[in-house]
Amino acid sequence: MKVIHSPVELRRTLHSYSSTAVVGLVPTMGNLHKGHLELIRRAKKDCDVIVTSIFVNPLQFSANEDFEGYPRTFEADCELLRTHDVEILFCPNARSMYPRGQEPQITLVVSHLGDTLCGEHRRGHFDGVATVVAKLFNLVQPNKAYFGEKDWQQFIILRHMVADINFPIEVIGIPTVRDADDLAISSRNQYLNEEQRHLAPLLFQQLCSVRDSILAGNTNYPSLEEQAKTVLVKKGFRPVYVSVRNADTLEIAHQKDTNRRVFGAAYLGQARLIDNIAIDST
Ligand code: PAF
Repeated sequence: MKVIHSPVELRRTLHSYSSTAVVGLVPTMGNLHKGHLELIRRAKKDCDVIVTSIFVNPLQFSANEDFEGYPRTFEADCELLRTHDVEILFCPNARSMYPRGQEPQITLVVSHLGDTLCGEHRRGHFDGVATVVAKLFNLVQPNKAYFGEKDWQQFIILRHMVADINFPIEVIGIPTVRDADDLAISSRNQYLNEEQRHLAPLLFQQLCSVRDSILAGNTNYPSLEEQAKTVLVKKGFRPVYVSVRNADTLEIAHQKDTNRRVFGAAYLGQARLIDNIAIDST
């Protein structure tokens, strides 16, 4: 595996591959887990060359978030990527990604898709994600890029980004990988203590319960959302939202929507857990 730190070196390396090689990009912030490995596995099926990036992007963290404490496990990540036959690891530092500092003159701004759900509570987060992913797309110029569906809102925003600004890149979503008790795997799960880890799958269970009630004919979404939040609060979660949305537009779902998902976010201790599941089989 080639470990590359600078954009110039990345370009040079990518030029050494055939121009017809299908390049797959798996962007990450490191601390790799089974969820990332699933993205890599799928990329390997589709592509000739896999580039994985590791970059903890300061632009997508606000001042009160966990940028400094975000788990960084570079050596273990390299080991894992080697055993999964990744050709190129791109791991730039902040200076090479943002040479003019962390307030670049030009950034991307995500419109209303970025202001709802997680974006309502993490102002500017999706602008930071779109900006760094656009930079990675320009640097790597992949044919395909892979993102986990656990961050469904991010996946939808990036799909819009490639359409709106004409990146010739296919954005592919990969279903959420779960632990045996159905907790969605996430780097932030390690902020949970033993007792919280035991409780954490309740978020997924509540999303399932909203979905099951809807499929059984209950269309009072606000009441189902409230019930789910009440159960979470009783068990010590601090829910941010539970919300039934159109999966493409992320707007509050109408009864006639045929592509609905239920989204949830809640704090449990220090950990901010997010999850979402499909309601309709499409
Ligand atoms: O999902 C993530 O890990 C990050 O948001 C991403 C897409 C790598 C951008 O920094």
